[in-house]
Amino acid sequence: MTTRIIGTGSSIPNRKVTNDDLAKIMDTSDEWIYSRTGIHSRHLVEQETTTGMASDAAQKAMENAGVSPEEIDLIIVGTVSGDMCYPSTACLVQAKIGAVNAVAYDISAGCSGFLFALNTAHAYIQSGIYQCALVIGAETLSKMMDWNDRSTCVLFGDGAGAAIVKANNAGIRAITQHSDGAGGDVLVCSNRGSNNPFVTSDTKLDYTKMEGQEVFKFAVKMVPKCVQEVIEKAGLSVDDVDYFLLHQANKRIIESVSKRLKVSLDKFPTNIEHYGNTSAASIPILLDELNRKNTFQKGDIIVMSGFGAGLTWGATLLEW
Ligand code: UT7
Repeated sequence: MTTRIIGTGSSIPNRKVTNDDLAKIMDTSDEWIYSRTGIHSRHLVEQETTTGMASDAAQKAMENAGVSPEEIDLIIVGTVSGDMCYPSTACLVQAKIGAVNAVAYDISAGCSGFLFALNTAHAYIQSGIYQCALVIGAETLSKMMDWNDRSTCVLFGDGAGAAIVKANNAGIRAITQHSDGAGGDVLVCSNRGSNNPFVTSDTKLDYTKMEGQEVFKFAVKMVPKCVQEVIEKAGLSVDDVDYFLLHQANKRIIESVSKRLKVSLDKFPTNIEHYGNTSAASIPILLDELNRKNTFQKGDIIVMSGFGAGLTWGATLLEW
């Protein structure tokens, strides 16, 4: 028994912000951002919330799968930008969609959040504990950016993507997951002061800080490695894979991975141009877009790979 993706959904905020829009409020240009990252625009929340977009994506995924909220046993949301410290985004989504029989909680794994959530759901399903799960990646990182730091804030966008997964004979064939906490200081958001009256602390809020080149080096080294690892675990070769769905962090990272794996870039679908880096939401948004275009045929082999804050990285290989 394994885990099959039987439905997908996504939700994007209305407000589109182009590189030219950013150039009006900071010293940057479409030429710089596009040539360095492949991003032309991103969508940023105004009235939308992490919970609202996650619930919207979940509704669409349930409709796409033909699954009712009562059938869901487990809800896991990969996010680092929930609307509240607690309750978890997953519990807020549970209430909104009426999944009364589910257990719900979040996973904090940066841009690997959706993948790690999917792999966790898979472990439960494979062991027979649960049969049907809702897995979501949802972020509003725009509220956690330093908008004076042009090297980082231009990269990110907001959004949510979701998948319904169910026990099935075909689906996930292999997973691999890694963390390196010692290397995590290249991408951080401390963002919380203490309100403890017995502690003297500087309660100034802090925002996302990234050493872009270090993150870039980490990604181009570790992503091809873990993709190869998951393919080997599944007993397949790189040529057997039909699609590589990578976290949409930077077009140049995707190009480098395709080169290192010696696989045509045509097998690496992207949408970073329109949404920027939506962190944990990027893989499920891309998955949903492709699913709705009927891109995948039954039996296609898909490798998904996420990487980001933690540091965390991993890959999942599945048969569609
Ligand atoms: O989910 C994982 C998230 N993280 C990532 O994916 C980040 C991976 N890293 C990257 O994508 C790249 O390192 C960046 C896109 C962040 C930066 O590209 P880079 O080629 O490494 O540029 P750089 O940081 O070396 O900066 C080059 C120049 C600098 O100017 P000087 O010092 O050469 O005069 C920057 O000040 O570009 C300048 N610069 C900008 N110019 C216009 C930095 N940001 C901007 C900007 N617009 N937005």
